Amino acid sequence: MNYQGILSDIYNESVKKQERGEVANYIPDLAQIDLNKFGMALVDEKGTLYTCGDAKEQFSVQSISKVLTLSLAFRLVGDDLLQRVGVEPSGDPFNHLSLLEQEQGKPRNPLINAGAIVVADILVSQLKNPKETFLEFIQNIANDPSITFDTKVAQSEKKTGFRNYAAAYLIKSFGNLENDVDTVLDFYFHQCALRMSCEQLVNTYYVFANRGKCLQNNPYLDLAQVKRINAIMLTCGFYDEAGEFAFEVGLPGKSGVGGGIVALLPDKFCVATWSPGLNPKGNSKLGMEALEKLTTKTRLSIF
Ligand code: DON
Repeated sequence: MNYQGILSDIYNESVKKQERGEVANYIPDLAQIDLNKFGMALVDEKGTLYTCGDAKEQFSVQSISKVLTLSLAFRLVGDDLLQRVGVEPSGDPFNHLSLLEQEQGKPRNPLINAGAIVVADILVSQLKNPKETFLEFIQNIANDPSITFDTKVAQSEKKTGFRNYAAAYLIKSFGNLENDVDTVLDFYFHQCALRMSCEQLVNTYYVFANRGKCLQNNPYLDLAQVKRINAIMLTCGFYDEAGEFAFEVGLPGKSGVGGGIVALLPDKFCVATWSPGLNPKGNSKLGMEALEKLTTKTRLSIF
């Protein structure tokens, strides 16, 4: 497969686009990002890396991190996790609150904000140094000790994350949060503020395309866990646009309001895109279009 040629074609088509969506402005530090950035990286089953555009430039991964906290929590508590968070798509925006009230504080799935807050609570309870251990977990999978949090973005979100405070207090009121809200949200805002490039994202998320083993072939998750995490990405990774992403692209994946998307085809490849402009559902506009082109041009998708 000529992945490099295909990425170059997608790059050339994408950078001409005038309609790029809007940068997330509810987190002040993300509102500054240049709308014209565009990058892609893909790692194939042999571990060969292909890139185009701004693939080496780091950005705020935001909700893409929710897959990694879920993975670490799965390793630590296994299926007990499912007592506290469900695995059904919500059909609602990522920061919606009404289902949480109706369903007594048990979030629909771990990839909406409320679900990720419960997963963060589990990590805070389980780990002595949650932020450091989480960072080491990612650095080890990616074989890249330079990956770190952007504390300025974390602080920026702490000042404006009113809906996350509302969700956390609602969850706490139903008895589904063990730790205090500020401690849990401090961890959550840091995980969202991870800075990674498309290249670093594919080096990390390759583990989900490679049956739980990283590029250096060390095991991080067992096959049953990877199967489940990929299923959750497919059904819940794009919030109320998960159906549209499956329809257009046909891969499990996860987006973030920093404009990144990661997607993968088991045993074949892991791909990441970055274009900061978002569509009205909070997913990268050009990123979704680029991934639709990738699965159309390669004729490779889970379907
Ligand atoms: O909690 C928030 O609202 C952000 N830190 C993350 C949201 C996000 O990335 C949703 N993804 N599309």
